[in-house]
Amino acid sequence: MAYTEADVQAAMKTLVDANTKKDFVAGKSVKNIKVSGDAVTLDIQLGYPAASVWGEIKATVEAHLAAALPGTTVTASVSSKVVPHAVQRGVKLVEGVKNIIAVASGKGGVGKSTTAVNLALALAAEGARVGVLDADIYGPSQPTMLGIAGKPVSKDGQSMEAMSGHGIQAMSIGFMIDNDDAPMIWRGPMASQALDQLLHQTHWDNLDYLVVDLPPGTGDIQLTLAQKFPVTGAVIVTTPQDIALMDAKKGLKMFEKTSIKILGIIENMSTHICSNCGHEEHIFGAGGGEKMCADYHTEFLGSLPLDIRIREQADSGRPTVVADPDGTIAKVYKQIARRVAVKVAEMAQDHSAVFPKIVVQNT
Ligand SMILES: Nc1ncnc2c1ncn2[C@@H]1O[C@H](COP(=O)(O)OP(=O)(O)OP(=O)(O)O)[C@@H](O)[C@H]1O
Ligand SMILES: [Mg+2]
Repeated sequence: MAYTEADVQAAMKTLVDANTKKDFVAGKSVKNIKVSGDAVTLDIQLGYPAASVWGEIKATVEAHLAAALPGTTVTASVSSKVVPHAVQRGVKLVEGVKNIIAVASGKGGVGKSTTAVNLALALAAEGARVGVLDADIYGPSQPTMLGIAGKPVSKDGQSMEAMSGHGIQAMSIGFMIDNDDAPMIWRGPMASQALDQLLHQTHWDNLDYLVVDLPPGTGDIQLTLAQKFPVTGAVIVTTPQDIALMDAKKGLKMFEKTSIKILGIIENMSTHICSNCGHEEHIFGAGGGEKMCADYHTEFLGSLPLDIRIREQADSGRPTVVADPDGTIAKVYKQIARRVAVKVAEMAQDHSAVFPKIVVQNT
């Protein structure tokens, strides 16, 4: 019997993408269906980076269609394409950057920088083009965590080239100062201006995602981010202690006010893993992050244990995702990165490049 493209389309409606939990047609991933005799070909274009599972998805799609349409030979070709998504109203996209993901927390020292760099490296490991912007003007961490030394150069006398390490691009005020130990004293407006320049005067080379590592709290830098950075969404990092959770709630509220979307919450130092015996313990109590997500209708993106390797690897310039890419901790970072990328893919697309902006003014 001869099948049509509509038959293939209908069959794809009954196959669910394990990452998005939607069928492939609803997920808008099915493209270029062609039927020629008993040969069926189609492209599966995922909206999130997933190089490590392309092969698996190809096999699943081919087996599903071969079973649904007996007698056909199916060839699926799987790829990912990340597109820009909508940002706060009135803020323009940055050239060379499709999506900005801010990593924030209410309280200091909960592991934002460590989480941000591992998240960035995990997205890159799945084939995305990724950058990290260290928005911590007061105490930059990314040069050390990425193991990058040296100063950025300018090719055109205006913008700086991003630095690079472990396959990702990076920019930090830390690349521009001579002495790591010198405390940086900025007055509010200066800090905001410095941050604005770091974003807009860096030549970012065709990034799918720019991960922004924020300083703690809800101050000037966060305000600059909200007003001048085209943010696709924010990830909040917290630890399970009550005090950190309370601060994380403040962080959530701040983003609500700025109309930046929250992608979800990551609980860091969730359990302690003993480096002697491997025993895992909930030293700060269990379930705080998950409960907060339920209360605030926000997605719980995952949790990382308090594990000495995470600190040692980040301190030595080779974060866990590159130091031990197949280990259990890297797997958790990769799973979280996948969830974040899927959340971004689900957001409304940015059409500002296609449609003119309509401005309604009250007179
Ligand atoms: N899951 C973890 N297990 C062990 N150590 C961790 C973990 N997460 C972070 N650390 C360590 O905790 C310290 C603080 O982490 P990090 O610098 O990432 O926090 P931060 O939230 O960015 O801090 P700040 O608010 O000062 O910017 C670092 O020494 C880091 O290596
Ligand atoms: Mg930090």
